[in-house]
Amino acid sequence: MDWGIQNRLNRIIDPTDGRTVMLAVDHGYFLGPTRKLEDPAATIKPLLPSADALMLTRGILRTSVDPATATPMVLRVSGGTSVVGPTLADECLTVSFEDAIRLNVAAVALSIFVGTDHERQTLQSLTELVDEGETYGIPVLAVTAVGKELEKRDARYLGLCCRIAAELGAHFVKTYYCDDFEKVTSSCPVPVVIAGGPKLETEMDALQLAHDAIAQGAAGVDMGRNIWQSDYPVPMIRAVREVVHNNARPAEAHELFLELKAAVDSGKAI
Ligand code: 5RP
Repeated sequence: MDWGIQNRLNRIIDPTDGRTVMLAVDHGYFLGPTRKLEDPAATIKPLLPSADALMLTRGILRTSVDPATATPMVLRVSGGTSVVGPTLADECLTVSFEDAIRLNVAAVALSIFVGTDHERQTLQSLTELVDEGETYGIPVLAVTAVGKELEKRDARYLGLCCRIAAELGAHFVKTYYCDDFEKVTSSCPVPVVIAGGPKLETEMDALQLAHDAIAQGAAGVDMGRNIWQSDYPVPMIRAVREVVHNNARPAEAHELFLELKAAVDSGKAI
């Protein structure tokens, strides 16, 4: 791997343990003002110190993140569809590579929609982005998107998507956790991170999800709603970090979550 790509990837995925806690706040690009992300600056600010990287759009980066931050940015560069439109899969590239470079990003990210009518166009966007990434030393994150079809999240489909993304040159891949997840990670030659998906019922459920993904070969999480839609987002991201970076069991991480939650409730700084 080129030095620049490896160096940028090392800023996102800690080379000492091969793990990462990315915070995803890009949801507005197709969902609009998602619950608890209505004011992105307010959501992002307290969480930023606990995130290994932030995944977001250029609009939110420019308007809502202090440029003094040292946290690496993973810039979403695909979109062009919305949750109220005919299909989420009909995405195109939405940011020029020059602008990504201007924003000093650590990586660029796009969604691929394998098995849809827009498979070819989104895979072609991936290959264009990889060519640009290789030229300028910026890694590419491919997101194996399922749109509204959450039932597509099985090992056969996600394994196919992750492998195709890696074959086409993606430097790391984001997918969903599923049964037999080890089949997905073991057949993908680049690091795999998982999305959290829609908010689960409890914090414990999300910690279990992160734990199971790590145990089955994930390099970490790129989690959004299960962190910032929690009533205690900072305790939650800190608990996720315990799982990802310190191999905590879900119950141990949940214990930390409860301690930090109690501290927040009693007005103590955490
Ligand atoms: C959408 C995305 C989101 O960033 C992704 O879904 C992660 O967020 P969450 O954990 O809320 O699912 O890439 O395509």
